[in-house]
Amino acid sequence: MTAVPVRSDRQIADAFLAATLPARLVDLRVQIGSVLPDVVRVGIFLVDDEQARLTHWADSEGRVRPCPPGVASLPDNPALSRCGALGCAQTPFVRLDPALEWAADGRTCPLVVLPVSRLRRFYGFLVVEADPAVVLPTWDVRQLLTWGRIATGLLAQGIEAIHALIGATRFALDFTLMRDRETGEHQLRLRDYIRVLTEELSAAHGLSDEFIAELTLFGPLHDIGKVGIPDAILLKPGRFERDEWEHMKEHVIMGRRMVERLVDNFDLQDIPGIRTLHAVVAHHHERLDGSGYPEGIHGDAIPLAARIVSTADIFDALTCLRSYKRPWSLDDAFAQIEALAGDKLDLECVRAMVCARPRIEAVWRRHACAPAAD
Ligand SMILES: [Fe+2]
Ligand SMILES: [Fe+2]
Repeated sequence: MTAVPVRSDRQIADAFLAATLPARLVDLRVQIGSVLPDVVRVGIFLVDDEQARLTHWADSEGRVRPCPPGVASLPDNPALSRCGALGCAQTPFVRLDPALEWAADGRTCPLVVLPVSRLRRFYGFLVVEADPAVVLPTWDVRQLLTWGRIATGLLAQGIEAIHALIGATRFALDFTLMRDRETGEHQLRLRDYIRVLTEELSAAHGLSDEFIAELTLFGPLHDIGKVGIPDAILLKPGRFERDEWEHMKEHVIMGRRMVERLVDNFDLQDIPGIRTLHAVVAHHHERLDGSGYPEGIHGDAIPLAARIVSTADIFDALTCLRSYKRPWSLDDAFAQIEALAGDKLDLECVRAMVCARPRIEAVWRRHACAPAAD
């Protein structure tokens, strides 16, 4: 059976950046262009964790492209390497690098390259380009370097905020696993079910790479509000009394407040994925027919991210051992979610789960959800 590929944090960050960098670069090009009209384009090379390879090129023409293997090796791009060591590189040296020639497409000429870094973290290179026929006077190059250094600082800050959010998410997942093993393991299974579901839905409906990255990162956090539920309820063996159940349902409201605080405290309003995080935490117990909680919203008013998480969440609840029930068989669990499709659960999400059954079963086995023999 096919293993579900795991994305590294850097890959997730790259997917987020691919969605936001071009707009930032368009703004930057407009700002620099208002002072130096010869600047026709700005772009950025992102580098990998080891700072050995260029991973993507994004530019102010709205393009984001992975760097092809033939030009991606950083040591094979001497001007970029030297720029990383010295703090900047200027034409004519930058013309020599294969990656810069590839990005320029024969239409532009790099004028200045500056490293994008903050504190000890290094994210890539900002490239400022002009028409190949242009030769900038020294004074303009100096202005460009000043502008460029401010721009790289701002770009690095934006990239850092994305890494900080991913780090905070990892911390929250680890924290939950330590507090309550059952919820923690549920998160890990959900992460894998969500990855399969989003990839299956993507094949049929073309979900963006960014959305898949967001949902596999944030979907497992849907029950984060459970950290606010007292141990006597959260860890209670056996079924809940009615009042305990009502208390347990408050994990959704608590989770939503935690997300809102996170966004306010760290100023993350503009970070991609925040809406997805909010959607999965606030709406994963809503049902299509309005019978869910806390708001009782219907149908498409429930964000797709939450509909995907609900489908995986119910499947996992059915197939796992609880103190008050044995795990359902796979056949029974699939039959149950099919019975809920269109009424409580999103039809397309359930279809995707059924179509991907071999991969779903592989996740179920890998997490040892199969019941022990009596
Ligand atoms: Fe929940
Ligand atoms: Fe859950």
